[in-house]
Amino acid sequence: MHARMPKNFVLDQRIERAANAIETGAAAYRGRWAEACHPLTEHGTERFERVHLDLGCGKGAYIAAMAARHPDTLFIGMDSEPVCVVHAAQLVLDRGLKNALVIPGDAARLDRIFALGELSSISINFPTPHPKRRNARLRVTTAEHLDGYRPLLKADGILALRTDSLPLYEFSLPQFKTIGWNVTCATHDDRAAHPDQPITEYEQRLTEQGATVHAVYARPAAQPATQEQLQAALELPQSLIDYLPEDLFAGEYIPYGMSYAIDNLRNRRHHLAARKDAYSDRI
Ligand SMILES: C[S@@+](CC[C@H](N)C(=O)[O-])C[C@H]1O[C@@H](n2cnc3c(N)ncnc32)[C@H](O)[C@@H]1O
Repeated sequence: MHARMPKNFVLDQRIERAANAIETGAAAYRGRWAEACHPLTEHGTERFERVHLDLGCGKGAYIAAMAARHPDTLFIGMDSEPVCVVHAAQLVLDRGLKNALVIPGDAARLDRIFALGELSSISINFPTPHPKRRNARLRVTTAEHLDGYRPLLKADGILALRTDSLPLYEFSLPQFKTIGWNVTCATHDDRAAHPDQPITEYEQRLTEQGATVHAVYARPAAQPATQEQLQAALELPQSLIDYLPEDLFAGEYIPYGMSYAIDNLRNRRHHLAARKDAYSDRI
């Protein structure tokens, strides 16, 4: 009989195996990622030309594909879920990539990990939508989060949000605009607009179910957001329900994480209509 394993034993083993592509002491590299992570060459110290952050990297398909295409750029995946960190790191190792790594972490405290202007670009692919109003602050595209990313991006840096969720797109776009980001592209078909973007695990899965990719590409605001701007962004509707189309996606793809809410709304409408019919039969 096998001895009973501690709950996280298997995960711990996988973390150990993938450790060479995981950086747990990320704060120590703040301000020097481009040099510190460059492999040693015969010319001595060299540096990556750019540092890219993939926020909520999931299982790492995006950083792995991009790192293979752009050897002069360091791709850092970050995820708050240890299982994703391990998967992504293992993919980096399996592909033999020297310009990609993964850090466990949360979008809320990026300033501990990156210095001012250290990032050339940030990608946020298919972020967790958190549809409820009470969880709105957890969305990684709130004005407050964006204002946190702003100083870490170079002035000409770019952030790309890509999502299957029309309500999340509709929520996010004014968050960028309210705090003065320069939206360079807002599209309901990013596959057509940017066909070279690598396909992530979620894009693969969700497009097979009928999703299209909504995207916002924006350059950081020149100035930090003011309290008035942040307040104005908070006063916009915070529940994703408020951004649903009138027909509740009738016969169409339902965005990831929203089927429960949409089923409830459809049921409610159905009951109201049935009650109205019964009432008009009686009068
Ligand atoms: C829906 S998945 C998308 C994964 C991947 N980007 C893709 O497109 O396949 C969202 C990911 O974001 C991570 N995540 C959610 N909130 C986060 C946060 N505040 N900071 C870092 N990662 C986060 C989750 O753990 C999850 O892996």
